[in-house]
Amino acid sequence: MKRFEQFLLTCIGLDARSLGTQVLERIIQERLLATRSPDRDAYWQLLKRSTAEQKILIEAVVVPETWFFRDPEALLALAKLAQRRLLQIRPDQGLRLLSLPCSSGEEPYSMAMALLDTGIAAQRFRIDAIDISGRGVDQARRGIYGSNAFRGRTLDYRARHFTVQNNNQHRLNDNVRACVELRQGNLFDASLLASAGPYDFIFCRNVLIYLDSAHQRQTAVLLEALLAEGGALFVGPSETPVLLRHGMQSLGLPLAFAFARGPAPASPQPPTPDAAAVRARPVLPSMAALRIQPATPAPATLEQAHRLADQGRWDEALALCEQLLHDAPRPAGGDLAALYYLLALIHDARGDALTADKLLRKTLYLESDHEGAMAHLAALLDLQGDRNGAAQLRQRARRVLQKQAK
Ligand SMILES: C[S@@+](CC[C@H](N)C(=O)[O-])C[C@H]1O[C@@H](n2cnc3c(N)ncnc32)[C@H](O)[C@@H]1O
Repeated sequence: MKRFEQFLLTCIGLDARSLGTQVLERIIQERLLATRSPDRDAYWQLLKRSTAEQKILIEAVVVPETWFFRDPEALLALAKLAQRRLLQIRPDQGLRLLSLPCSSGEEPYSMAMALLDTGIAAQRFRIDAIDISGRGVDQARRGIYGSNAFRGRTLDYRARHFTVQNNNQHRLNDNVRACVELRQGNLFDASLLASAGPYDFIFCRNVLIYLDSAHQRQTAVLLEALLAEGGALFVGPSETPVLLRHGMQSLGLPLAFAFARGPAPASPQPPTPDAAAVRARPVLPSMAALRIQPATPAPATLEQAHRLADQGRWDEALALCEQLLHDAPRPAGGDLAALYYLLALIHDARGDALTADKLLRKTLYLESDHEGAMAHLAALLDLQGDRNGAAQLRQRARRVLQKQAK
């Protein structure tokens, strides 16, 4: 098994443990049958000489999970930051954006819709979208999507930007498709982005979690080099530790997971890298300063706590959460889970990973399919060196997502 793991690591940076070893075992077994290889040695020889088989194996191991407006706060933040940046550049200049990996297109198309909906003309931005999966890129080029791609609670963009077809599939309108330039490519192919950049905004979301630490570092170096001065890099909820370790600077937009180029300015109290980066003064305005409202309105007091957290006013946000927790009537069910989750984010931002860990477990106790809590807890377990625990949690998150998609 080791040689297959090594092949995938060298080729696409995949840490097989992130899938669970049994998953890779099963995939190899399926490929053995499909290629009529009598045993693993024979299949290994075939894999070494056939680029076609290499592509098939890579398609089989990548996780293409994605949907429109995944983490809406990131897209809202993008739209606001883009508006602001356009005011700083010449009117004849446009914004350059990158979505890598783009999977089947939901992410770059959401970026385009978010910018168009905020009133930015299509001529003023261009999105490059890249993924290693030929199947994903082909699907993105077709621009036709089933219900699986629409999972959020707010789907108003669908009526604006899609046309319903007879078979209940949704076809993305041409004006949005035209904003995105799709390409198949490997993040670890040195020539892929050699002459690209700088990009004003980069989305590299939900791929770092599948890479080993060396490839995570390599990716962070590449992305930082591609990012324009004053630009923003967005990652997935559980991927922030990778950039914090790399010295990039959190923009302090809690649910947007956005970073500016490092190094972070020196902090008066440097406890952990996470806390130092989160406390660092944002170079771009906070969510609150940009008047970004949470996509789903929360009860007033929880919303206040969110707003304080958005401004990096951790102590006040914490005090308000504690008050909510202890005052009658105590929140229950989903509200209590949301409160524990916010508390976990605050403690993590303040550098108290241990308390954040406990609170994330409480969130999951109350709401076992809370995707954000699973992702954050997996990231904390990774930092503690518990790779197996983190992988199990990510597997669980994947199962939940698959169930939700059905
Ligand atoms: C979970 S999806 C994330 C898609 C999107 N960014 C999102 O957050 O919804 C992960 C994607 O990473 C792609 N991928 C994995 N390794 C890659 C590599 N080395 N180069 C480019 N894409 C890669 C996979 O094909 C898959 O489509």
